[in-house]
Order: sequence, then C-alpha cells, then structure tokens
Amino acid sequence: MAIGVGLLGLGTVGAGVAAILMGPEGRHPLVGELALQRIAVRDLERPRSLNLDPQLLTTSPEAVIDDPAVEIVVEVMGGLEPARSLILRAIAAGKPVVTANKAVIARYGEEIAAAAAERGVYVLIEAAVGGGIPIIEPLKQSLGGNRIQRVSGIINGTTNYILSRMADEGAAYGDVLADAQRLGYAEADPAADVEGHDAADKIAILAGLAYGGPVAREAIATEGIDRLQARDVAYAAQLGYVVKLLAVAQREGEAEPLPLDVRVHPTLLPKHHPLAGVHGVNNAILVEGDPVGRVMFYGPGAGAGPTASAVVADILNIAGIRKVTGSQAGAPLDPLLAASSWRRCELVDGSATSHRNYVRLQTRDEAGVIGRIGTCFGEAGVSIQSIVQFEARDAEAGGGAEIVVITHEVRESAFRSALAAIDALEEVRTVAACLRTL
Ligand code: NAP
Ligand code: HSE
Repeated sequence: MAIGVGLLGLGTVGAGVAAILMGPEGRHPLVGELALQRIAVRDLERPRSLNLDPQLLTTSPEAVIDDPAVEIVVEVMGGLEPARSLILRAIAAGKPVVTANKAVIARYGEEIAAAAAERGVYVLIEAAVGGGIPIIEPLKQSLGGNRIQRVSGIINGTTNYILSRMADEGAAYGDVLADAQRLGYAEADPAADVEGHDAADKIAILAGLAYGGPVAREAIATEGIDRLQARDVAYAAQLGYVVKLLAVAQREGEAEPLPLDVRVHPTLLPKHHPLAGVHGVNNAILVEGDPVGRVMFYGPGAGAGPTASAVVADILNIAGIRKVTGSQAGAPLDPLLAASSWRRCELVDGSATSHRNYVRLQTRDEAGVIGRIGTCFGEAGVSIQSIVQFEARDAEAGGGAEIVVITHEVRESAFRSALAAIDALEEVRTVAACLRTL
C-alpha cells in the first residue's frame, strides 16, 4: 500500500522532490511506494513546469497536514513562520516531518525536537545543510563513535558560486548574484546568503549534531561576503591564498558545558588546503575527529536536484521504518536517528580565541612606516608571518601605499590591541580590511 506524502511548497526544492516521486523508475523500489497526496502553494495560478494533477494543489498548508491520506509531511516552503507552526502541527498530528528549512531548525530545533520526542515521530533534516551532500546522517550515525574536534566548511552554495566566478572570470558581484537567484541557489531573501546568516544557521545545526547539544544561534559571530573587496581577493591570490566563506565549529576544551568556538567569516585559505579547490555551487565539509582523523564531504550545495535528493533520502528513511514497524507515531525513537541531545554546549568569548589574520592598511608612502607598524604588532605580542607593500596608487588606495600583513596565530584580544595602536599612527590612513587566515 502506498505511503502518502504531503508537500508544503512547490518551489525550487518542492518541484525537485515532486519530480523524483513522479519518476520512480530506476530508483530504489521504495520510491515507487510513495504517493504525492497534497501540495500547498501560495499561488494556484503560477505556471508549474511539472505535469501535476491540479487537484493536488491547495493554498492551505493546514489542509495538507490534516489530510488523512498524508502520512509524511515535507516542509519545503521556507521562512520562519508559518513553517515552524506547521511543523509543530504535523508533529502534534503524529506525522513525521522532513524539512530543508535550516532557518527554522537553527532557531527552533530544540522546541521541535522536544515536541517530536514527546509524540514519538521523526523530524529529519538532511537537506538543511550541504544540499545534496549526505552530512547530517554521517554526523548522527556513521561518525557517532568519534570525539569531534572541529567541523569546518564551505556550506553556502550561493556565496561560493559568487566568489568562484568573481575570482575566475572577474565577473561583477551583482550579475553573479542574479545568476545564483535564477538558478535557484539563493534564499528567498539573498541577504541571508551574502551576509552569512544561512551559513550560520547551518553551522549551528552541524555543531549541535557533532557535539551533542544545541548551540545558541544568535551568539554565532557572523560576517558575510557583502563587504569583501575585490582587491583583497586579488592580493590574497598574489600571496598564495583563495578567499572562501568559511563556517567553523571548534571544541575549545573539555569543560561542562562544552566550550565551542563557532563562527562564519570570509577566510584566506592556502591554495593547497582541501577546501580551497571547492568551486562554484559546490560545498565541502571537513570533519576532524578522534579516532577517524580528517573526513571531507563534497558535492553540490544547493539547487533543485541535489536538495531534492537529500529530502527524498529522509522520506525513504521514514518510509522504511514505517514498513518495518507498521506505525507512524508513538513508538520509541532511535536516539541516533532522532539526534537526541546528550550534553550542553556553550559558545566561548571570541576575544579569547586565537587565529591567523590578514590585514590591509592604507598608509603614507614614506620611510619608516613598515617599521612602526611592525613595532605596534610586536609590542602587542603579535608575531608577523609576512608584511608586503603593494603598488597601489589608485584613488581607492588613497594615493599612498597599501601594506598587507599576515600574522602568525595570535590571540584575538592581542591582535585587536595592535590594530588600535596601528590605527592611531599618523602615517596610517586606515585599516582597510581584516580577514581571518588558515
Ligand atoms: P522557493 O523556491 O521560494 O519555494 C517556496 C515554495 O513554498 C513555493 O512553492 C511557494 O508557493 C510555497 N509557499 C511559501 N509560503 C507559503 C505559504 N505561506 N503557504 C503555502 N505555500 C507557500 O524556495 P526553495 O528554494 O524551494 O526553498 C525551500 C526551503 O528549502 C527553504 O527553507 C530553503 O532554505 C531550503 N533549501 C533550499 C535550497 C535551494 O537550493 N533552493 C537548498 C537547501 C535548502 P508558490 O510556488 O505559489 O510561490
Ligand atoms: N541558499 C542556500 C545556499 C541554499 O546557497 O547554499 C542551500 O541551502
């Protein structure tokens, strides 16, 4: 007997899911047992590329959830509300949920997980991070025996697509962003992508799974690519680095609650770093654990097909369990698949963490400037790896010199006090850019 699926949303991801369910040939036989029962959309008049029975469509997501023929609810409409309330409604009705909505899970994951545990239903989220890359299930299950040290990665396809095309073709930021929207990579409001919030949602989810406890989403230090300047990408390239929007979650000790450094920012990666070769809409997540070592997950991070692949994997997981147990709700949940929390985590104060840095200074072009800058760094205990003066006499550089400094790993508080002293030097016009470096 068919297993009824209800879709909340038929946009980029929803249409990709419907296409798989409508074409089960050549896929796992369980796909053929899934039947699309109802689909909620906002606009019934919008032309749809799929040859769907119009009777399936409704503008009422509640009608989809409440339909007795719908046994699995798939939320792919996006946004915080009504998505959160609809997920909770499905759980209360005893219906398992599959969602691609990282914004909701990063903010309301605890509430949703508690409701799901009480009702005995699964809420699966493979598509919420990394598009088509299987990363949620590996963190929950395959890597479960590890003590995770660090999870880092490129987890926003739109920004990686933009940075890659800007670096490779010299394409203009606005044009490439428009292409990313046309291709279905960007969020409904692309500010979430370029300002780093989408990546922050995703690293909050990955950290919660990797370390076993929820992470305060609002406390994640987040910087996007919207203020990144093309000249820093160009200087970085001359120094042997590529710039990527990196999300990092790192264990900073063994205390209870577990201290974590979680952040999102543009980062200079040495050209030989495994994440430096990740181009276009692709994502990659590097997991470092004991005893596994380094494991990297790579693949398309956004778009209809890849994301639908992850959504359908979750639907199949639930359909498989239902086939074995015959029940939908109320049975005890597998703690690994349900990703039950087992400890508390706490984000550390960023000023106490240590990093390598890239700094670009605009200065007067005269004798002794580099020496005085070096002294400021030295007095703050900041060790310099390299200091280079670039020929930059254009208007943007203020007609003086541009000096780029790369530091060794230093405590953030020491680095900030060196910068304050440098900024106060008469010869320094401005601290024009500051980026993290691996
Ligand atoms: P989308 O193209 O904007 O599609 C949203 C769909 O939801 C549309 O079909 C829309 O109806 C429907 N909808 C929105 N609000 C509704 C409401 N109140 N009632 C009924 N229907 C409503 O979005 P998307 O790109 O598919 O993304 C969906 C979710 O997947 C988001 O949470 C996103 O973050 C996540 N995600 C997206 C990707 C990606 O590559 N796009 C990858 C991973 C995860 P209409 O069609 O009538 O407008
Ligand atoms: N807007 C997101 C991205 C979609 O570009 O990565 C995939 O989550």
